[in-house]
Amino acid sequence: MLSTSATKSRFSQRKFNKKEVDLYLFKRGEKLFRKSFLKWAGGKSLVLPILKTLLPSGKRLIEPFCGSAVVSLNLNYDSYVLADINADLIELFTYLKKDGLKFVKYCKQFFSSNYNQKDVFLELKNVFNTTGDAKLKSALFLYLNKHCFNGLCRYNSSGEFNVSFGKYVKPYFPEKEMLFFSTFLKQTVLKKTNFLTTMKQAKSGDVVYCDPPYLPLSKTANFVGYGSKGFCLDQHLELVEMARFLQKKGIFVAISNHYSKEIEKIYLKATIHKFKVQRHISCNGNGRKKVEELIAIYGKN
Ligand SMILES: C[S@@+](CC[C@H](N)C(=O)[O-])C[C@H]1O[C@@H](n2cnc3c(N)ncnc32)[C@H](O)[C@@H]1O
Repeated sequence: MLSTSATKSRFSQRKFNKKEVDLYLFKRGEKLFRKSFLKWAGGKSLVLPILKTLLPSGKRLIEPFCGSAVVSLNLNYDSYVLADINADLIELFTYLKKDGLKFVKYCKQFFSSNYNQKDVFLELKNVFNTTGDAKLKSALFLYLNKHCFNGLCRYNSSGEFNVSFGKYVKPYFPEKEMLFFSTFLKQTVLKKTNFLTTMKQAKSGDVVYCDPPYLPLSKTANFVGYGSKGFCLDQHLELVEMARFLQKKGIFVAISNHYSKEIEKIYLKATIHKFKVQRHISCNGNGRKKVEELIAIYGKN
């Protein structure tokens, strides 16, 4: 349930022109939201209306688990820290920030029908896993994101990307979304780091939103494959400890997770907001259903 004392919605502060609305926003209820240019497992687009209500205003939003960055993209702060442990993701953002349109054009070459074939996909996946050319690797990370099965990002124990071919008729090249994002990135600092390192740098006045890989609800729903190593209960407990530490310094922290009676218990002394959301991550394609999630708030004291 959302608390009645929830802080004021931050949606109305951003204005959209008609071209933007037509071209690259999606609608949830009466609200329009920007799309990320990436597909990302556990992406928070469906939770944006709730986050807009719960997160307070502040100078800077810090996302230690930024993923596709759709949350920052839709919340209005003066500046942002986008951090993630996935070095390929942050490297892609870095090229987009640095080279903008030039990099977008470079990426576009991999989106013709010639590249949408299983044998070419396998060849490019191998190039991605072996190349020392950082710019090519970043462009191929986007290619893999749009051409692989369900846009999953999974690595084997040797750190190699290992998702299979997605068999899409015509993978979408997100040109406009990338160009907008390259402008948005000017207000951001990008970090390839573990969440603890990112959170330690938070200062008074910052707002921190944490969206870690969720704890599994069942034994078959244990998708945590964003990096070559999983995210276990110990790390969730470290996250709670850090949130409480920041709270004592007057910094607002919100954390997302699945909701269950057991999971709720790890968020000591937090205010818990519980709600249902449609989730799309599934290995067998038929597990797309509404699940309960929570947002644990460690508010400013
Ligand atoms: C649920 S996803 C975030 C999704 C994001 N909020 C969005 O809407 O796209 C979790 C993210 O945590 C990152 N991650 C996993 N372990 C991490 C760690 N130890 N430190 C920082 N980021 C981590 C993953 O790479 C992944 O991008």
